[in-house]
Amino acid sequence: VSISEDNSRVTASLPTGESVEVLLFGATVLSWKTAKGKENLFVSSKAHLDGSKAVRGGIPLVFPNFGPSSNKATEGLPQHGFARTSKWEYLGKSSSESSTLPNSSGDSSVKLDFGLSNTMLDKIPSEWKDYQFGITYSVTLGRDDLETSLAIRNTGEKDFEFQTLLHSYWAIDNISNVSVSGLEKVSFADKVGGGKKEESGAITVSSEVDRVYHVDPSQEIAIIEKDKPRFEFTRDMLPDVVVWNPWIEKSKTMSDLAPEDAYKRFICVETGSVSWNTLEAGDTWEGGQRIKAL
Ligand code: BG6
Repeated sequence: VSISEDNSRVTASLPTGESVEVLLFGATVLSWKTAKGKENLFVSSKAHLDGSKAVRGGIPLVFPNFGPSSNKATEGLPQHGFARTSKWEYLGKSSSESSTLPNSSGDSSVKLDFGLSNTMLDKIPSEWKDYQFGITYSVTLGRDDLETSLAIRNTGEKDFEFQTLLHSYWAIDNISNVSVSGLEKVSFADKVGGGKKEESGAITVSSEVDRVYHVDPSQEIAIIEKDKPRFEFTRDMLPDVVVWNPWIEKSKTMSDLAPEDAYKRFICVETGSVSWNTLEAGDTWEGGQRIKAL
């Protein structure tokens, strides 16, 4: 396993060539390549990687609020919270190296840990000043999968509420050949047309889509491209899935989304907890996702 780090990013690769790259700003996973160098994440060519804005692409972390702040506890916080716009600390790696014995499975993996605590935030809106927390975000690169998991600790004396999401931009060749399975007949909150709806078949995208599904974590979700599974998601403690694609008109209003046809090249399937969690003083909440690339 090889690791390189500087004060802005950490890159790890396995002896078999798979790699992952994490920007300390937001602990945003910027790149995940599986065998033969195939990139699994989309990053806009106009994404800001200098810490001036949340990254448009990769896996930005949504915490402690999803969307605009919507309850008392998160009033005054920016859209999708502060985790994606804070500089995280690299805590180190642990790895399991493959054995070189002839009959070994050849499996190896590397886990990178990142930390964020309230004391590291630049500006804390007053409502959040009473809360203390420590988050460990672990990014584990395997041969054909990636795991991203969060352990959120309430290190203070007051309970707090949070939402969280792994806001992932999956790279695809063309949105017209893509569908999402596992969400059939699951009712969703439609952020474009309003109200609660459901569809009977796999989800396809041919206009702006922005939906929140509440679906048991035991339900497997997959992104299908040209009738074949491309990404398979396993979730732990993450009961919600957001499906988002801005399509043509909305893309034009996003100054950091490029090239012009970028909307064809990604679909956001974001696992998380849009449902509010209460974290009591002294408690830790853990959740995460594993994505298999096929
Ligand atoms: C999605 C939301 O998760 O993120 C959308 O459901 C939102 O409503 C999108 O537009 C992008 O948000 P942002 O803040 O990164 O532009």
